Amino acid sequence: MCGIVGYIGTRVAQPLLLEGLKRLEYRGYDSAGMATVDAGRLSLTRAVGRVQNLEDRLGELGGFGGTVGLAHTRWATHGGVTEANAHPHRDGSGRIAVVHNGIIENYTVIRQYLEEKGHTFKSETDTEVLAVLIGELFDPEGGVDLESAVRAALREVTGAYAIAVICAAEPDTLVAARKGSPLMVGVGSGEYVVASDPAAIIAHTTQAFPVDDYHVVKLTRDGLRTSNLDNVEVTPKIMQLELDLEQIDLGQFQHYMLKEIYEQPRAIRLCCRGRIDAREGKVVLGGLAQYAKELVKSRRVILTAQGTALHSAMIGEYLLEDLAKIPAEVEYGSEFRYRNPIIEDGSVVIAISQSGETADTLAALMEAKERGALALGVINAVGSTIARETDAGVYLRVGPEIGVASTKAFTGQVAVLTMIALFMARRRFMAPDACARLMGELEQTPDKMERILEQDDAIRTLTEKYVERENWLFLGRGYNFPTALEGALKLKEISYIHAEGMPVVFIANKGPQYDKVMNNIEEVRSRGGHVIAVATEGDKDIGRVAEDVMWIPDTPDPLSPMLAVLPLQLMAYHAAVLRGHDVDKPRNLAKSVTVE
Ligand code: G6P
Repeated sequence: MCGIVGYIGTRVAQPLLLEGLKRLEYRGYDSAGMATVDAGRLSLTRAVGRVQNLEDRLGELGGFGGTVGLAHTRWATHGGVTEANAHPHRDGSGRIAVVHNGIIENYTVIRQYLEEKGHTFKSETDTEVLAVLIGELFDPEGGVDLESAVRAALREVTGAYAIAVICAAEPDTLVAARKGSPLMVGVGSGEYVVASDPAAIIAHTTQAFPVDDYHVVKLTRDGLRTSNLDNVEVTPKIMQLELDLEQIDLGQFQHYMLKEIYEQPRAIRLCCRGRIDAREGKVVLGGLAQYAKELVKSRRVILTAQGTALHSAMIGEYLLEDLAKIPAEVEYGSEFRYRNPIIEDGSVVIAISQSGETADTLAALMEAKERGALALGVINAVGSTIARETDAGVYLRVGPEIGVASTKAFTGQVAVLTMIALFMARRRFMAPDACARLMGELEQTPDKMERILEQDDAIRTLTEKYVERENWLFLGRGYNFPTALEGALKLKEISYIHAEGMPVVFIANKGPQYDKVMNNIEEVRSRGGHVIAVATEGDKDIGRVAEDVMWIPDTPDPLSPMLAVLPLQLMAYHAAVLRGHDVDKPRNLAKSVTVE
């Protein structure tokens, strides 16, 4: 995915755009660029690498004037990471600048058509093709203004896009449009901020609206006009952004990942607040109320996700089968969409995604929905594409997750899936007191997480001992098999350590598989492996077999992944920092993959 920011108003655009780009840098950090219109002239520059490089480049150029502009931080999909491929892209005349997130699928056909008309291209991108097409259609003398040219161009393209467009010949206009990729318009007084994510808007206004698919928004300093591709005017639904700056600032932390690891106790409290009534043994999930009957009577649950969310889906599968006694299965979104999946009556599909924008997860959900399944979402980003496509769902409420490596969203997803399982279990087979007991334990989870975080220094020291090892193995069973996969993924994602060899990290909490895991530890030790264990406080035997131990408080087995993953997150974090890596911007990894 990429980050888009656009501004039109009375203030100089450049500082606002740079600040917005820094807030969106987690969305992509291959290259960045900016364009503004000042005194009827388009200024444009781009730089490979981080937003800082763009800022340096702007400094060398003496900065851009102008109160209308757009900027972009790129995560390469079409064409390598070069300055020529970075956004914004210009049309042939050099008057129009376009930034784009998404993929124009039929760009080769359009490029051919434009080449036949004599246009040449400077980049390998699909976006430049769109810019040139808009330029080709733009004809102010003939009555085709920028808004109409954008609309006409978008009628020709297939694929996904969120775009922002400015034009030197129309210095008082910014045009934005969307299909499939996220885009929001922040509404200030006499100014607008367009961005792919509210993080770039919140410093300026709390009033905003998401641009709907196939809608084109024309922004001027005097007002806005929203219409569809047939030029029928539509009224945007302006809402209050539920986000404050503190949530997206680093504060005392060096990295977002560490901040978000530390936020987990509070995040899980917020996630569960008002949703569980342990005394009554009841789960209240407002988002699902309307579909409670269908859910309880369902015959099969399919959980679909990618990456970290897939690991929480795997835990969800255990929870649903174990607690709610309902057949459940996990499907990679990327595979599900290309099979001919069998969806019987009474099937429920639950899409799990932090961003709510992962293309494969979205496609799997749509496929299941079309085949008649009830489509539910477990999503963090409010108003995101997947959240909007589902019939109903439960938001995580863990706050924005900016670190590329997912941490608090994972535990939030597991907490929500636990609540969904209990919600169904209570209405199916689970006795009220058993349900109430588990809920009481769930309410204790944030306090227990706090105890784990107190071991941060000890985990750092432990990690130092092993940090030079090139291969690690993570092992866990039952509920903690997916936790082990998640621990390995965290280490791989940010430390680039191949996490399948030695040392061996075991999740050896006091659950039903404890004895089996202890046997596995013995086997590894007898082959000379170095064992690091995640164990339950008070376990006197583990010290005999493990060289190092990270402790978690005692908890019922179904709730243990939410605790066991914390030491693994901290370990991955410290390993990456000790190896000198930029934890929040790991190489070759995007926060969410919004293209196939
Ligand atoms: C990508 C990211 C992963 C993430 C996955 C799902 O693969 O690199 O870190 O877990 O997408 O993202 P989502 O936003 O759908 O949870």
